[in-house]
Amino acid sequence: MPGQTTERKDHVPQICILGLGYVGLPLALSFAMEGHPVIGVDTNRELIQQLKAGITYHKESFEGKSIQEILREQLEAGSFVPKEEVPSDCTIYIITVGIPVVKKEPFYEPLLQALRMVREVLKKGDLVLLRSTVPPGFSEQIARPLLEEKGLRAGIDFNLAYSSERIAEGKAFEEFRNMPVVVAGLSEECCRRAEKVLGLIARAPIYRASSMTAVETAKLFENISRDVNIAMVNEFAAFCRAVGLNTQEVISLANTHKRVNLLQPGPGVGGYCLPNALYYLLPRAREKELSLPLLTTARQVNDSIPASVSQMVFSALAAKGVSPAEAKIAVLGLAMKDYSSDDRQSPAWIIIRQLQERGVAVSIFDPAVPYEGPLKASSLEDCLRDSDCLLILARQKEIPFSSIPELLSLMKPKPVVIDTRFVFTKEEISQRGGVYYSL
Ligand SMILES: NC(=O)c1ccc[n+]([C@@H]2O[C@H](COP(=O)([O-])OP(=O)(O)OC[C@H]3O[C@@H](n4cnc5c(N)ncnc54)[C@H](O)[C@@H]3O)[C@@H](O)[C@H]2O)c1
Repeated sequence: MPGQTTERKDHVPQICILGLGYVGLPLALSFAMEGHPVIGVDTNRELIQQLKAGITYHKESFEGKSIQEILREQLEAGSFVPKEEVPSDCTIYIITVGIPVVKKEPFYEPLLQALRMVREVLKKGDLVLLRSTVPPGFSEQIARPLLEEKGLRAGIDFNLAYSSERIAEGKAFEEFRNMPVVVAGLSEECCRRAEKVLGLIARAPIYRASSMTAVETAKLFENISRDVNIAMVNEFAAFCRAVGLNTQEVISLANTHKRVNLLQPGPGVGGYCLPNALYYLLPRAREKELSLPLLTTARQVNDSIPASVSQMVFSALAAKGVSPAEAKIAVLGLAMKDYSSDDRQSPAWIIIRQLQERGVAVSIFDPAVPYEGPLKASSLEDCLRDSDCLLILARQKEIPFSSIPELLSLMKPKPVVIDTRFVFTKEEISQRGGVYYSL
């Protein structure tokens, strides 16, 4: 339970988690809350300083407690210890360091560095459990030989296993417990050790796979299938807009079919997981001379959505007789999805850049994202004041959307509202003299 400071059977941390980001931090705190102390390692010195001071910008909570409260409780209890170096006296090393995609190719260096850090302290009997999302074959063909470089043999001297991480940001604590887990290891003992560790927090079934590569690939299929489904529904939305149908109505109607479950259109697909997954799969596909045209096209479709949102803004401004160079746009929501503090690869940044390239003045309000740059508005009112267009890109609890219809009076006359998250209806905005567009 969060905040539990019960008698711990063994207060010496056996578990070390490398990478204290959106996955690693709540994962470490989940073990700590269950009475299994954790040393958390991250190479980002500033992050370690913040965590030691009990500061995180993540938007997670569990059973009524925020991640900030949980972090402070576990720090005080000594059950979560953030560090920059990997300790040598742990027996379980869990790696959650990601593989960024640079120019559409995986950039392995951060994860390789994490593996090298573990290699330096690896002892007989240790378990290395990889949880990062990786290209098929990474654990067996890249992680294994790297960890074996000092002479210890995987599957004999130490245990090596892979278990995909399947949480969604914002639901991490709940999903570490209740999301089914998939795992594979190099040997029976590797699997057994990994299942035991995963079972310390998971209440859901743990499925054992025949190989680490099967688990790695299944994880990519999970992410890419969402990417493809989002691309599809974004094309459906474009069709509805073109023929004058209400996208939300048509999607709701289609979803009354028992075997149809269309997702929601949006301003694009950001974050770490969905946009990267295809680029982990493609190098292996190319080796086999496979082109995967549907998956590649879906990615291109999703990549093109921010530009179509920017185009909606320019068209709405033109209809109002305002040139981009004299326009001011109020952007609500910087995060890559609703109710998130994560603005990595966020479509919002792409749209903002495209607007600025045409001379538009942009003001941003999103208190959930730790952005302190020059475009930041100090309040919702400040953001809306004297703007021509309100562009809604993400919902946040901290943005009081219900007060917006009233606040439209702060904007220039005949304010335009472009709502990519279906927060409002056309009627709500037009009653206040605004012009409403949605996807
Ligand atoms: N964010 C999600 O919701 C989510 C969900 C499922 C899976 N994943 C996967 O989990 C992995 C981590 O994702 P994330 O969102 O937590 O990333 P993140 O960027 O938030 O966190 C990664 C952390 O690793 C740290 N790091 C980099 N090199 C390191 C090293 N050598 N040693 C220790 N720390 C190091 C970084 O400083 C960063 O804090 C990725 O593979 C991602 O694809 C993420």
